[in-house]
Amino acid sequence: MNPATKNDQPPATVSTISARALPFLALLLCLLFSAALAHAQSLTGRWAASGKTLDNGEQQKAILDLKQDGSQLTGTVRGLGFSVDVKGTANGSHFELFGVDWNDKKPFLTGDLANGRITGKQWDESFEARPATSADEFPTLPYIDPPALHTVPYNGLAKTPPMGWNSWNLFQGKVDDQTVRTMADAMVSSGMKDAGYIYVNIDDTWEGVRDANGNLQANYKFPNMKALADYVHSKGLKLGIYSSPGPRTCAGYPASYGHEQQDASTFANWGIDYLKYDWCSASSIYKNDALHPIYQLMGDALHATGRPIVYSLCEYGMGSVEKWGAEVSGNLWRTTGDIRDEWDSMMSNIEKQVPTAPYAGPGHWNDPDMLEIGNGHMTDDEYRTHMSLWSLTAAPLLAGNDIRTMSAVTKSILMNKEVIAIDQDSLGKQASPVKDGNFETWVKPLADGSVAVGVINLGSSTAQATVHAADLHLGGKPTKARNLWSHKDVKFAQDAYGAQVPSHGVLLLRVWAQ
Ligand code: GLA
Repeated sequence: MNPATKNDQPPATVSTISARALPFLALLLCLLFSAALAHAQSLTGRWAASGKTLDNGEQQKAILDLKQDGSQLTGTVRGLGFSVDVKGTANGSHFELFGVDWNDKKPFLTGDLANGRITGKQWDESFEARPATSADEFPTLPYIDPPALHTVPYNGLAKTPPMGWNSWNLFQGKVDDQTVRTMADAMVSSGMKDAGYIYVNIDDTWEGVRDANGNLQANYKFPNMKALADYVHSKGLKLGIYSSPGPRTCAGYPASYGHEQQDASTFANWGIDYLKYDWCSASSIYKNDALHPIYQLMGDALHATGRPIVYSLCEYGMGSVEKWGAEVSGNLWRTTGDIRDEWDSMMSNIEKQVPTAPYAGPGHWNDPDMLEIGNGHMTDDEYRTHMSLWSLTAAPLLAGNDIRTMSAVTKSILMNKEVIAIDQDSLGKQASPVKDGNFETWVKPLADGSVAVGVINLGSSTAQATVHAADLHLGGKPTKARNLWSHKDVKFAQDAYGAQVPSHGVLLLRVWAQ
């Protein structure tokens, strides 16, 4: 017999008590343990989050103020120049947070809580968070009173909608000096420049930090912005740049808040010809009713430089920008949120243009955002529709694809001179749609008395579209009509013209009367 085994047998009386108490003890321990666990696992509190290192060497930081009630989460995510109200759910150690005012299907933040630390992702960027201390708080930025309103003199630019290229849609943060130079080369060699695309625009993520005198420098990706501007100018092109009226840009880089005149002068000294000014973090300082005076501040600053700089307002159509954009010498203003390379996004952006139509005209244009043509997630028919609609609505034509590697089809869409002529027509009228079943018809009067008419097939199969002369308000019978995609003249018979239009495709005609 094994003595150890024998000695392991407890005395009978003890054994009886333990056996009875065991279930209660286990339950008690279980309750205590899960209470402790629940406490340890609660996301309630202030968390200091550190994200990726930006191209200017700064690390992205945020504070998560969270409250957990069961599986429900509420709170805010704040940084220097941004604050997002969030709500979401926790499931065990995992949680997801969505912007309260955003309609996104994808969570804004996801994470896991373990050992009192969070590891997670903001969109696709990783971050870590630990309980915050007072040292993690962001400084309170001084409030600058919005100036009294006045009219900023028109800068004389953009008599027709601006045309060019912008880095954001395809390159986002991966834009640098070399990309811009090679893109400028390609603008010339591909024929884009000859087709009218003149502006080469650097979007967000070029920014460095401010020097001791407060002058904003570019980050390492742009070693010499003036030399880059000289290079772009030597190609007969113009250079655009990006900033925000808030302390930070949308991608978290330093922006023009409190440095408006200084930055405008920097841009002018570099030889910049175009500024996209993106509201973004300004919402953390100003109320949105300050949109007009705050955009005026930069309008004045650009005017004071004496350099002609196209002024692009990017505030997603808030505060009826179309009614006052021209007053601040804005040459174009975004009327929508960001476009995506998808049919629904493209159509939704263009349809949001409808109420703004009366406000487009030479010098000042509604901007449904940049082009996605050639970026690969729409069909060629959809891209032809995209180009046709932007032209019918006199929208700025800012290509967002890689000009250096365009396919022949993409070239034929972006550089269709007959379609570009509709966009660039000197009358500057913006078409509006009339819906009839699956067809949407847009008619744009042109300076020579002719009209452009586009019929979009919103349906999922090819269908016969008809253009009725009476709907064109030509003041006479059509004498000439031309299909702007097939580049062929066509004939109106009995005051109408019909053609098959593929799903999501367009019939685009220019029609003349006597
Ligand atoms: C906003 C703008 C975009 C782009 C990004 C850059 O989302 O609407 O067009 O400029 O910021 O961060």
